Amino acid sequence: MEVADLEVRFGGVVALAGVSFSLISGECCGLIGANGSGKSTLLAALSRLHHGAERGDIRLAGESCVGWSPDRVARWGVARTFQTVRLVADLDVRDNVMAGVMPGSATGNHADRRRGPFAVLRGRASDASARVDEALQTVGVTAQRKRRPTELPYGLQRRVEIARAIVSRPRVLLLDEPTAGMTGRERAELGELFGRLAGSGMAVLVVEHDVRFVTSTCDQAFALDGGRVVARGTPTEVIASPEVRQAYLGTGGAGGAPGEVRAPGAGGAPGDVSGTSSVHGTGDAGGTGPSRGARA
Ligand SMILES: Nc1ncnc2c1ncn2[C@@H]1O[C@H](COP(=O)(O)OP(=O)(O)OP(=O)(O)O)[C@@H](O)[C@H]1O
Ligand SMILES: [Mg+2]
Repeated sequence: MEVADLEVRFGGVVALAGVSFSLISGECCGLIGANGSGKSTLLAALSRLHHGAERGDIRLAGESCVGWSPDRVARWGVARTFQTVRLVADLDVRDNVMAGVMPGSATGNHADRRRGPFAVLRGRASDASARVDEALQTVGVTAQRKRRPTELPYGLQRRVEIARAIVSRPRVLLLDEPTAGMTGRERAELGELFGRLAGSGMAVLVVEHDVRFVTSTCDQAFALDGGRVVARGTPTEVIASPEVRQAYLGTGGAGGAPGEVRAPGAGGAPGDVSGTSSVHGTGDAGGTGPSRGARA
Protein backbone atom coordinates (compact mmCIF):
# COMPACT_ATOMS: atom_id res chain seq x y z
CA MET A 1 0.00 0.00 0.00
CA GLU A 2 1.37 3.38 -1.02
CA VAL A 3 -0.11 6.64 0.19
CA ALA A 4 0.86 9.83 -1.62
CA ASP A 5 0.21 13.35 -0.40
CA LEU A 6 -3.10 12.42 1.22
CA GLU A 7 -5.18 15.31 2.48
CA VAL A 8 -8.50 14.95 4.31
CA ARG A 9 -10.62 17.91 5.43
CA PHE A 10 -13.78 18.05 7.47
CA GLY A 11 -15.15 21.46 6.64
CA GLY A 12 -12.47 23.84 7.85
CA VAL A 13 -10.60 21.16 9.81
CA VAL A 14 -7.59 19.73 8.01
CA ALA A 15 -7.30 16.27 9.57
CA LEU A 16 -4.57 15.04 7.22
CA ALA A 17 -2.30 17.52 5.47
CA GLY A 18 -0.26 15.77 2.79
CA VAL A 19 0.56 12.38 4.28
CA SER A 20 2.82 9.99 2.34
CA PHE A 21 4.08 6.55 3.37
CA SER A 22 4.23 2.92 2.26
CA LEU A 23 3.26 -0.28 3.99
CA ILE A 24 5.35 -3.32 3.16
CA SER A 25 4.20 -6.95 3.21
CA GLY A 26 5.87 -8.81 6.04
CA GLU A 27 6.39 -5.70 8.15
CA CYS A 28 4.65 -4.23 11.15
CA CYS A 29 4.54 -0.43 11.02
CA GLY A 30 3.72 1.64 14.10
CA LEU A 31 1.80 4.91 13.98
CA ILE A 32 2.06 7.29 16.89
CA GLY A 33 0.72 10.78 17.44
CA ALA A 34 -1.07 12.86 20.04
CA ASN A 35 -4.85 12.90 20.39
CA GLY A 36 -6.42 14.54 17.35
CA SER A 37 -3.30 14.22 15.19
CA GLY A 38 -5.19 12.32 12.47
CA LYS A 39 -4.42 8.64 13.14
CA SER A 40 -8.00 7.34 13.03
CA THR A 41 -8.79 9.57 10.08
CA LEU A 42 -5.88 7.99 8.25
CA LEU A 43 -7.16 4.47 8.93
CA ALA A 44 -10.63 5.55 7.81
CA ALA A 45 -9.17 6.91 4.58
CA LEU A 46 -7.20 3.73 3.93
CA SER A 47 -10.36 1.66 4.33
CA ARG A 48 -12.41 4.22 2.33
CA LEU A 49 -14.66 4.90 5.30
CA HIS A 50 -14.39 8.62 5.89
CA HIS A 51 -16.75 11.33 4.76
CA GLY A 52 -14.37 14.24 4.45
CA ALA A 53 -13.11 15.99 1.36
CA GLU A 54 -10.00 14.30 0.05
CA ARG A 55 -6.99 14.83 -2.19
CA GLY A 56 -4.01 12.63 -2.93
CA ASP A 57 -3.67 8.98 -3.83
CA ILE A 58 -3.78 5.56 -2.18
CA ARG A 59 -2.42 2.63 -4.20
CA LEU A 60 -2.91 -1.05 -3.58
CA ALA A 61 -0.25 -3.11 -5.32
CA GLY A 62 0.17 -0.21 -7.73
CA GLU A 63 -3.51 0.44 -8.47
CA SER A 64 -5.25 3.54 -7.15
CA CYS A 65 -8.19 2.68 -4.88
CA VAL A 66 -9.44 6.25 -4.60
CA GLY A 67 -13.11 6.03 -5.59
CA TRP A 68 -13.39 2.38 -4.53
CA SER A 69 -16.16 1.41 -2.12
CA PRO A 70 -15.24 0.18 1.38
CA ASP A 71 -16.43 -3.29 0.30
CA ARG A 72 -14.17 -3.36 -2.70
CA VAL A 73 -11.16 -2.33 -0.65
CA ALA A 74 -12.05 -5.02 1.89
CA ARG A 75 -12.38 -7.64 -0.84
CA TRP A 76 -8.98 -6.63 -2.19
CA GLY A 77 -7.60 -7.42 1.24
CA VAL A 78 -7.62 -4.38 3.51
CA ALA A 79 -9.02 -5.22 6.97
CA ARG A 80 -9.19 -3.10 10.06
CA THR A 81 -10.22 -2.87 13.66
CA PHE A 82 -11.70 0.24 15.22
CA GLN A 83 -10.63 2.38 18.14
CA THR A 84 -13.71 1.31 20.10
CA VAL A 85 -14.95 -2.27 20.05
CA ARG A 86 -17.66 -2.87 17.47
CA LEU A 87 -18.97 -6.35 17.99
CA VAL A 88 -22.51 -7.54 17.51
CA ALA A 89 -23.89 -8.09 21.00
CA ASP A 90 -26.54 -10.58 19.86
CA LEU A 91 -24.10 -12.95 18.17
CA ASP A 92 -21.69 -15.29 19.91
CA VAL A 93 -17.96 -14.86 19.44
CA ARG A 94 -17.75 -17.44 16.67
CA ASP A 95 -20.52 -15.82 14.63
CA ASN A 96 -18.98 -12.39 15.12
CA VAL A 97 -15.80 -13.72 13.58
CA MET A 98 -17.75 -15.53 10.85
CA ALA A 99 -19.11 -12.11 9.87
CA GLY A 100 -15.58 -11.19 8.79
CA VAL A 101 -15.59 -13.80 6.04
CA MET A 102 -16.25 -11.88 2.86
CA PRO A 103 -19.26 -13.13 0.91
CA GLY A 104 -18.28 -14.74 -2.36
CA SER A 105 -14.65 -15.11 -1.50
CA ALA A 106 -14.50 -17.39 1.49
CA THR A 107 -12.42 -19.94 -0.33
CA GLY A 108 -10.80 -17.23 -2.31
CA ASN A 109 -8.10 -19.23 -3.99
CA HIS A 110 -7.60 -19.52 -7.69
CA ALA A 111 -7.35 -23.31 -7.69
CA ASP A 112 -10.92 -23.49 -6.36
CA ARG A 113 -12.10 -21.02 -8.96
CA ARG A 114 -10.56 -23.11 -11.74
CA ARG A 115 -12.52 -26.13 -10.53
CA GLY A 116 -15.69 -24.17 -11.31
CA PRO A 117 -18.48 -22.46 -9.41
CA PHE A 118 -19.85 -25.62 -7.82
CA ALA A 119 -16.49 -26.54 -6.38
CA VAL A 120 -16.33 -23.08 -4.88
CA LEU A 121 -19.83 -23.40 -3.43
CA ARG A 122 -19.11 -26.85 -1.99
CA GLY A 123 -15.85 -25.71 -0.52
CA ARG A 124 -17.06 -22.39 0.78
CA ALA A 125 -18.94 -23.31 3.93
CA SER A 126 -16.39 -25.77 5.27
CA ASP A 127 -13.49 -23.56 4.32
CA ALA A 128 -15.05 -20.53 6.00
CA SER A 129 -15.71 -22.57 9.12
CA ALA A 130 -12.11 -23.79 9.21
CA ARG A 131 -10.86 -20.27 8.76
CA VAL A 132 -12.97 -19.02 11.63
CA ASP A 133 -11.61 -21.75 13.90
CA GLU A 134 -8.08 -20.88 12.83
CA ALA A 135 -8.63 -17.16 13.50
CA LEU A 136 -10.14 -17.86 16.93
CA GLN A 137 -7.15 -19.99 17.79
CA THR A 138 -4.65 -17.46 16.44
CA VAL A 139 -5.89 -14.73 18.75
CA GLY A 140 -6.54 -17.11 21.66
CA VAL A 141 -10.32 -17.01 22.08
CA THR A 142 -11.24 -20.57 21.09
CA ALA A 143 -12.50 -21.34 24.60
CA GLN A 144 -14.84 -18.32 24.45
CA ARG A 145 -16.30 -19.10 21.00
CA LYS A 146 -19.84 -19.76 22.30
CA ARG A 147 -19.94 -16.72 24.60
CA ARG A 148 -21.51 -13.36 23.84
CA PRO A 149 -19.03 -10.46 23.51
CA THR A 150 -20.63 -8.65 26.46
CA GLU A 151 -19.73 -11.58 28.72
CA LEU A 152 -16.03 -11.17 27.97
CA PRO A 153 -13.47 -8.87 29.52
CA TYR A 154 -12.47 -5.96 27.33
CA GLY A 155 -9.12 -7.45 26.33
CA LEU A 156 -10.81 -10.55 24.94
CA GLN A 157 -13.38 -8.46 23.07
CA ARG A 158 -10.53 -6.72 21.32
CA ARG A 159 -9.03 -10.07 20.40
CA VAL A 160 -12.34 -11.12 18.88
CA GLU A 161 -12.24 -7.99 16.72
CA ILE A 162 -8.76 -8.89 15.56
CA ALA A 163 -9.95 -12.41 14.74
CA ARG A 164 -12.77 -10.94 12.66
CA ALA A 165 -10.29 -8.74 10.81
CA ILE A 166 -7.82 -11.55 10.04
CA VAL A 167 -10.29 -14.35 9.28
CA SER A 168 -10.17 -13.68 5.57
CA ARG A 169 -6.40 -13.38 5.54
CA PRO A 170 -6.07 -9.74 4.54
CA ARG A 171 -3.02 -8.40 2.77
CA VAL A 172 -3.14 -5.18 4.79
CA LEU A 173 -4.23 -5.12 8.44
CA LEU A 174 -5.00 -1.76 10.07
CA LEU A 175 -5.30 -1.73 13.88
CA ASP A 176 -6.53 1.37 15.72
CA GLU A 177 -5.17 1.29 19.27
CA PRO A 178 -5.72 -2.46 19.66
CA THR A 179 -4.01 -2.62 23.05
CA ALA A 180 -5.88 0.27 24.69
CA GLY A 181 -7.15 -0.77 28.11
CA MET A 182 -5.01 -3.91 28.23
CA THR A 183 -2.59 -5.15 30.85
CA GLY A 184 1.14 -5.25 30.19
CA ARG A 185 1.01 -8.99 29.67
CA GLU A 186 -1.87 -8.75 27.20
CA ARG A 187 0.02 -6.07 25.30
CA ALA A 188 3.10 -8.24 25.07
CA GLU A 189 1.02 -11.15 23.77
CA LEU A 190 -0.63 -8.96 21.15
CA GLY A 191 2.72 -7.52 20.11
CA GLU A 192 3.92 -11.06 19.51
CA LEU A 193 0.75 -11.83 17.56
CA PHE A 194 1.18 -8.80 15.30
CA GLY A 195 4.76 -9.84 14.63
CA ARG A 196 3.55 -13.30 13.64
CA LEU A 197 0.84 -11.87 11.37
CA ALA A 198 3.40 -9.66 9.65
CA GLY A 199 5.70 -12.67 9.42
CA SER A 200 2.96 -14.53 7.55
CA GLY A 201 3.12 -11.87 4.83
CA MET A 202 0.64 -9.21 5.92
CA ALA A 203 1.42 -5.52 5.93
CA VAL A 204 0.39 -4.44 9.44
CA LEU A 205 -0.21 -0.84 10.54
CA VAL A 206 -0.80 -0.43 14.26
CA VAL A 207 -1.84 2.81 15.96
CA GLU A 208 -0.36 2.75 19.42
CA HIS A 209 0.31 5.26 22.18
CA ASP A 210 2.75 3.16 24.15
CA VAL A 211 6.15 3.83 22.64
CA ARG A 212 7.64 0.82 24.39
CA PHE A 213 5.13 -1.38 22.55
CA VAL A 214 6.05 0.24 19.24
CA THR A 215 9.75 -0.25 19.87
CA SER A 216 9.40 -3.91 20.74
CA THR A 217 6.79 -4.81 18.10
CA CYS A 218 7.29 -2.70 14.99
CA ASP A 219 9.86 -2.81 12.18
CA GLN A 220 9.11 0.75 11.07
CA ALA A 221 7.13 3.65 12.46
CA PHE A 222 5.96 7.13 11.68
CA ALA A 223 4.48 9.93 13.72
CA LEU A 224 1.67 12.33 12.93
CA ASP A 225 1.29 15.79 14.36
CA GLY A 226 -1.51 18.08 13.21
CA GLY A 227 -2.17 15.79 10.24
CA ARG A 228 1.45 15.83 9.05
CA VAL A 229 4.13 13.16 9.17
CA VAL A 230 6.76 14.65 11.46
CA ALA A 231 9.06 11.62 11.77
CA ARG A 232 9.58 8.25 10.13
CA GLY A 233 12.12 5.47 10.34
CA THR A 234 12.80 2.72 12.85
CA PRO A 235 10.76 3.00 16.05
CA THR A 236 13.85 4.08 17.95
CA GLU A 237 14.61 6.81 15.41
CA VAL A 238 11.04 8.06 15.43
CA ILE A 239 10.74 8.19 19.19
CA ALA A 240 14.10 9.89 19.51
CA SER A 241 13.33 12.58 16.94
CA PRO A 242 13.05 16.10 18.34
CA GLU A 243 9.72 16.65 16.53
CA VAL A 244 8.16 13.66 18.25
CA ARG A 245 9.58 14.48 21.64
CA GLN A 246 8.24 18.00 21.31
CA ALA A 247 4.89 17.36 19.66
CA TYR A 248 3.89 14.02 21.08
CA LEU A 249 5.73 13.46 24.28
CA GLY A 250 5.85 17.13 25.20
CA THR A 251 9.37 16.87 26.49
CA GLY A 252 11.31 18.78 23.85
CA GLY A 253 15.03 18.03 23.42
CA ALA A 254 16.89 15.10 24.90
CA GLY A 255 16.44 13.36 28.20
CA GLY A 256 14.82 10.10 29.18
CA ALA A 257 15.36 6.80 27.45
CA PRO A 258 12.93 6.56 24.53
CA GLY A 259 11.68 3.10 25.48
CA GLU A 260 10.76 4.27 28.94
CA VAL A 261 8.52 7.10 27.96
CA ARG A 262 4.81 6.41 28.30
CA ALA A 263 2.77 8.75 26.16
CA PRO A 264 -0.43 10.21 27.50
CA GLY A 265 -3.98 9.40 26.63
CA ALA A 266 -4.65 5.98 25.17
CA GLY A 267 -8.06 6.33 23.54
CA GLY A 268 -10.88 3.85 23.29
CA ALA A 269 -13.74 3.20 25.62
CA PRO A 270 -13.41 -0.07 27.50
CA GLY A 271 -16.55 -2.15 27.52
CA ASP A 272 -18.10 -0.42 24.55
CA VAL A 273 -19.88 -3.16 22.66
CA SER A 274 -22.18 -2.04 19.93
CA GLY A 275 -25.64 -3.46 20.19
CA THR A 276 -26.42 -2.75 16.55
CA SER A 277 -26.42 -5.30 13.82
CA SER A 278 -23.81 -3.47 11.78
CA VAL A 279 -20.59 -5.28 11.14
CA HIS A 280 -17.35 -3.55 10.31
CA GLY A 281 -13.77 -4.28 9.69
CA THR A 282 -13.84 -7.20 7.31
CA GLY A 283 -11.44 -8.06 4.59
CA ASP A 284 -10.34 -10.87 2.35
CA ALA A 285 -7.02 -11.43 0.73
CA GLY A 286 -8.24 -14.15 -1.56
CA GLY A 287 -5.47 -16.34 -0.20
CA THR A 288 -3.03 -15.00 -2.73
CA GLY A 289 -1.26 -12.21 -0.90
CA PRO A 290 2.05 -10.95 -2.16
CA SER A 291 5.25 -12.48 -0.92
CA ARG A 292 7.04 -11.11 2.10
CA GLY A 293 8.87 -7.89 1.52
CA ALA A 294 6.83 -6.67 -1.45
CA ARG A 295 4.81 -3.49 -1.46
CA ALA A 296 1.26 -4.33 -0.43
N1 LIG B 1 -16.06 13.14 11.08
C1 LIG B 1 -15.38 14.21 11.47
N2 LIG B 1 -15.87 15.44 11.35
C2 LIG B 1 -15.19 16.54 11.73
N3 LIG B 1 -13.94 16.50 12.23
C3 LIG B 1 -13.37 15.29 12.37
C4 LIG B 1 -14.05 14.08 12.00
N4 LIG B 1 -13.21 13.04 12.25
C5 LIG B 1 -12.09 13.58 12.75
N5 LIG B 1 -12.17 14.92 12.82
C6 LIG B 1 -11.12 15.83 13.29
O1 LIG B 1 -9.93 15.47 12.65
C7 LIG B 1 -8.83 15.57 13.52
C8 LIG B 1 -8.14 14.22 13.64
O2 LIG B 1 -8.97 13.31 14.37
P1 LIG B 1 -8.61 11.78 14.55
O3 LIG B 1 -9.77 11.13 15.20
O4 LIG B 1 -8.17 11.24 13.26
O5 LIG B 1 -7.37 11.86 15.54
P2 LIG B 1 -6.60 10.69 16.30
O6 LIG B 1 -5.16 10.90 16.05
O7 LIG B 1 -7.17 9.37 15.93
O8 LIG B 1 -6.92 11.03 17.82
P3 LIG B 1 -7.08 10.04 19.11
O9 LIG B 1 -5.70 9.74 19.59
O10 LIG B 1 -7.84 10.88 20.08
O11 LIG B 1 -7.84 8.83 18.67
C9 LIG B 1 -9.38 16.07 14.85
O12 LIG B 1 -9.23 17.47 14.86
C10 LIG B 1 -10.83 15.69 14.78
O13 LIG B 1 -11.62 16.56 15.55
MG1 LIG C 1 -8.04 7.87 16.99
